[in-house]
Amino acid sequence: MNEFQKELCQNLSKYCWETIEPHMEHDDADGKFRMEFFKGLGDYGVAGVTLPEEYGGAGLSYLDYCYVLEEIAKVSVPYAVTVSVSSMVQTILNEYGTKAQKEKYLPALTSGDEIGAFALSESHSGSDAASLKTTAKKVEGGYVLNGTKMWITSGGIAKTYIVMARTGGEGAKGVSAFIVREGDAGFSFGKAEKKMGWKTSPTRELVFENCFVSDENLLLTEGKGFTVAMGGLDRGRVAIAAIGVGCAKRALDEAVSYSLTRQQFKQPIFDFQGLQFMLADMALEVESSRLMVLSAAQSIDDKKTNSKLCSMAKLKATDAAMKVTTDAVQVLGGVGYTAEYPVERFMRDAKVLQIVEGTNQIQRVVIARHLKKEYEQHA
Ligand code: CAA
Repeated sequence: MNEFQKELCQNLSKYCWETIEPHMEHDDADGKFRMEFFKGLGDYGVAGVTLPEEYGGAGLSYLDYCYVLEEIAKVSVPYAVTVSVSSMVQTILNEYGTKAQKEKYLPALTSGDEIGAFALSESHSGSDAASLKTTAKKVEGGYVLNGTKMWITSGGIAKTYIVMARTGGEGAKGVSAFIVREGDAGFSFGKAEKKMGWKTSPTRELVFENCFVSDENLLLTEGKGFTVAMGGLDRGRVAIAAIGVGCAKRALDEAVSYSLTRQQFKQPIFDFQGLQFMLADMALEVESSRLMVLSAAQSIDDKKTNSKLCSMAKLKATDAAMKVTTDAVQVLGGVGYTAEYPVERFMRDAKVLQIVEGTNQIQRVVIARHLKKEYEQHA
């Protein structure tokens, strides 16, 4: 980490620990999202870290962004996720949007005044995203959307949605991407999910019933929606990985500090070699995951986004988050299983990191496909 990154993270960490942390236990129990916290993160310039300054972003690198997400996730995985999904929407708009689309939608997102959400999944198309059924029928001046999107992070609290819908035939080439706004006629919110974790990050169904979207809100051209989604997800997966690192690091910190003070058999439990081996392995998982994240982020900064590395980082760091948080609960024992300590919350929050933005099984599919291509090219 360079001096600039250190300072950025120190200031951000202070805000997160002083402002967000004191509310996390209760808000987790109540499932309460607070816009003022998100706005507060925006005031620190982290709602649009990598976006160009001309659109209100901080103009920083993806590496900087990963450190930022790690820092937020040490206090709250759900707020880090809200930032990361909103940032993925911004990245998509910045990369694939027209100048007019960027000028219209980006400033409110980069400032943290508004939140963005990404709508790809449907009840019958999760991993097989290209089989989505929501339709966008061409009419004069635009498209009419019909269908239902499922498990949408920030559904209901976001204002700008990137929605993938079918304008053509079956498969990936029939998919287009649209910008839809909360309040558009025919766009409403369905059921709010009750979840194991991510309690302070709302997840909601989106319902489109004859929702008119103007031509100006089509991203790129018809049939390019799957490429838009996959391009966004490549980068989004690295962000999820960075959140995994923060989640695991917090659990490790909690486990080490508890084990140094907790006495059993007349000594701190840290002094038992069985526990030392466990804690050492947990630290190894955190550090090795961070290296994978930084390597994938570097490929993005070099403008050579390496999908294989992005998937590897997501797979490694989120599996690590699950393992490290689970082990942290074990180190703390009985109290680790209670809400008296935050490790059980981080364990619940870690689980879905292995599922969102492509399950870790799908990450292996992506990795294997790249391997096959690479080996075929060199055969
Ligand atoms: N970048 C750009 N384009 C890409 C791409 C990428 N990384 N990956 C694929 N494409 C393009 C391909 O080039 C191809 O186009 P051409 O035919 O013109 O070459 C097209 O997309 C179709 O690609 P595939 O044949 O590989 O598609 P597939 O149907 O076999 O699916 C998959 C591939 C990797 C399994 C994909 O479906 C996938 O990633 N599934 C998981 C879905 C997912 O991640 N969902 C996340 C939901 S959003 C979420 O969780 C966010 C949140 O709220 C937290």
